[in-house]
This record gives sequence, structure tokens and C-alpha cells, in this order.
Amino acid sequence: MEPDLHALLRSLRVWDPAVTDLRPFDAGRAPAEPLPLFARWLADAAAAGQPEPHTMSLATADADGLPDVRIVMLHGADERGWSFATHAHSRKGGHLAARPYAALTFYWPVLGRQVRVRGPVTAAPPEEARADLHARSTGALASALTGRQSAVLASPEELARASEAAWEKARRAPDTPAPSWTLYHLAPDEVEFFQGDPQRRHVRLRYRGEGEDWARELLWP
Ligand SMILES: Cc1cc2nc3c(=O)[nH]c(=O)nc-3n(C[C@H](O)[C@H](O)[C@H](O)COP(=O)(O)O)c2cc1C
Repeated sequence: MEPDLHALLRSLRVWDPAVTDLRPFDAGRAPAEPLPLFARWLADAAAAGQPEPHTMSLATADADGLPDVRIVMLHGADERGWSFATHAHSRKGGHLAARPYAALTFYWPVLGRQVRVRGPVTAAPPEEARADLHARSTGALASALTGRQSAVLASPEELARASEAAWEKARRAPDTPAPSWTLYHLAPDEVEFFQGDPQRRHVRLRYRGEGEDWARELLWP
């Protein structure tokens, strides 16, 4: 018998203090800039045992404005912005070429926290992408060398052959370039921190870029 989807959905909980460590968040004491708070929350999530806290949803839009979203890994966050890497010819790569603007969401359920970031995206110079890729694992290089991301796959065997060759090359020649592998920096216009609360009085703190400075404002949940 099929499981009852709606009964299951009604039985599931969020912001349950029995399973989620919902910490008070005093937005009045937040730093003047979003980056140090992001670094602290990411470290908190990792320390609290959140699996894969460095993964995030990346939302893009195509030339007609139609949205899409997928998970990618965070490669860094600093004065250049929040960084991720992917193939320039993938679906998201095409979107970013047509509309160089994106949004990111991190969700760390063990702490009931969400962070949203949005802003313009630029591709880093190829040598920066190369250095970033070659500082990562053999698997990351093999994955980048496999290529053809988001193209239609004729058969699993075709992927197995391409992946095997890519792993072999990544092990034998770890300096092999992966030309379409591109590092992108998203320079934030806005960064929002959301701390869940069991009474649903969630704290939302939004940083909005104003020239060199950041305006901070609370938002209704
Ligand atoms: C945990 C996780 C991490 C991922 N990290 C990346 C990544 O860093 N870069 C990437 O191109 N795809 C990554 N992917 C795969 C993407 O979600 C997606 O399937 C792929 O990039 C194709 O997306 P597109 O067709 O919208 O371009 C990851 C997937 C998961 C589940």
C-alpha cells in the first residue's frame, strides 16, 4: 500500500525544541556587516553536527525570467562575495550568462536557521578557477573533467566510460585543466539571517547594501 502522503506531512514538525536547538538571536547585537555573522553561523552549524552545512540552494533565472534552483557547494565567502563553481555550459551557467544575478539559501535545520543571499554574479578569471579546482579533491577534478553537465545522457554506460577516463586522468595528471569549470562570485546586495523560534516569533535580520555600508532592518516573520 502507498504511504499516506498527507497524513505524513501533517505528522511532521518544524521548530520543535525537542529536536532542534533553537537559540535566542539578539539581532541588536549583530555585527555591522553580514560576513562575520555568516562565518559564525556556518561554524555554529558545523559544530552542532549539521550534515553538509556548506551546501546551498542556488537560484537563477533564464533569459525569459523563468526560475530554477539546485544545490551547489560554497567554495568561499570574503570581500569578493559568496563563491561557487560549476560548468559554464550547464543550465545554470547559461542562466548566469544571460542574467548575471542569483540568490542563495542555506538551511541549517539542527539550529532552525536560514541564510539568504542575493546579488550580481561575476565569473572569476580562469586562473582563479583553476587554482580553486586544483586545491580540491581528486573526485572534484574527476567530476569537472567528466564534463557535459546538464546535457542529455544517452545511457548510463556512456557516463561510466567518461567518468572512468576522467578519474584516470585526474589521478595521473592532477594539473589537467577543466576549461568550462568556472568559479563565480556573488556580491551580495542583501543578506538575511533567519532564526526560528518555537512560538513562531522568528527573528529575521536583513542587511541591505548601501554603497560601502550596510543598513540593518528587522522583518516580520
Ligand atoms: C550536495 C550537492 C552538492 C553539489 N555541488 C555542486 C557544485 O558545487 N557544483 C555543481 O555544478 N553542481 C553541484 N551539484 C549538482 C547540482 O545540484 C546540479 O545537479 C548540477 O549542477 C546541474 O544543475 P543545472 O542543470 O541547473 O546546471 C551538487 C549537488 C548536490 C546534491
